[in-house]
Amino acid sequence: MKNIVVLVSGGGTNLQRIIDTIKSNEIVNAQVSLVVADRDCYGLQRAENEGIKNKMIPRGKNFCELLEKEIPENTDLIVLAGFLSIMTQDFCQKFEGKIINIHPALLPKFGGKGMWGMHVHNAVIAAEEKTSGATVHFVTAGVDEGEIILQGKVDISENDTPESLAEKIHSVEYDIFPKAINIVLQNK
Ligand code: GAR
Repeated sequence: MKNIVVLVSGGGTNLQRIIDTIKSNEIVNAQVSLVVADRDCYGLQRAENEGIKNKMIPRGKNFCELLEKEIPENTDLIVLAGFLSIMTQDFCQKFEGKIINIHPALLPKFGGKGMWGMHVHNAVIAAEEKTSGATVHFVTAGVDEGEIILQGKVDISENDTPESLAEKIHSVEYDIFPKAINIVLQNK
């Protein structure tokens, strides 16, 4: 049984999808052993509702140091599911190949510091892009620069707004995230 730690900062619909696809065996032979949030958010409540151990560590300078102490020894994978703090170089090196993130655009486009959540969708619409999507990638010290595991695309129509694009991209995320988690876990 593989052990996954999930980090969240927001509503946690991707966390819920991970939990649900573990239950339905789309993610094979795994469990979420811990959910950590860097702020009060509904993601923590979702963990609580599912009986999953959860903890809030306030975001800030020593977040990664404190987080490291909480990660169980037997952890196979750390999954950033709508997580907004930037991990330190030390942390990224210590868990190299064991941390993945989901990003709501087709990296390397529309990534990097400041590119998160609705900021990404606003920028994509402003740039009059014809496609966007979601990317699951390994986390390295360079923000949104690690090796890509899976991407899913959506077409953008003239009528799309940042909000409608966000909704389309969430659907793609729910599709590719469990698949990417399986790919990574099976290579361990
Ligand atoms: C997701 O769209 C995810 O790609 C994005 O935050 C949203 C979280 O939604 N992540 C980032 O922007 C990270 N840079 P959720 O809380 O409903 O899963």
